[in-house]
Amino acid sequence: MATREIIRMGHPQLREKSSELSIDEITSKEIQQFIEDLKETMAAYNGIGIAAPQVGVNKQLALIHVPTESERYPEAPVTELYVIFNPKITVLDETTQGFWEGCLSVPGLIGYVERPRKVKIDYLDTTATMQSIVVEDFHATVFQHELDHLFGKLYIDRITDSTKFSYTEEFNQFHNGEESMEE
Ligand code: NI
Repeated sequence: MATREIIRMGHPQLREKSSELSIDEITSKEIQQFIEDLKETMAAYNGIGIAAPQVGVNKQLALIHVPTESERYPEAPVTELYVIFNPKITVLDETTQGFWEGCLSVPGLIGYVERPRKVKIDYLDTTATMQSIVVEDFHATVFQHELDHLFGKLYIDRITDSTKFSYTEEFNQFHNGEESMEE
């Protein structure tokens, strides 16, 4: 296993649409090893999600894991580890909800983003089996933030009120207690 370097905003690979993987690719040794590297990298950065483009690999693969022992999200509902290939996202409830979002590829900053509060995600898992899950509330934001990375989007593109874009330190000083989701 190896920890990969996370690329940051300004790197063109974060702005590319990633390519889908074939079933053979998903089940290949190379990709299964890559999943292990992503797990290790996510843990090293104390993240709750990571997408392949964030380590410079433009393939449609993202991991999401809100662990029980998360110090940063003691209140957050726990999830199992999700390994998601080739996702298709359907909005089930257009009602939006807002969270302050942070991103490993945009370190030191945080911004308020509104997103649909309930979505369905159809995807392939590590065995290339079709899965479908419905996520809402906090998890809906986590999944949408993460899967945006596979389509060249960053949360900053979705900030509609630029007065709610902040350095993390100032956020902690002046907005402490407001709901946040820092990848
Ligand atoms: Ni991110």
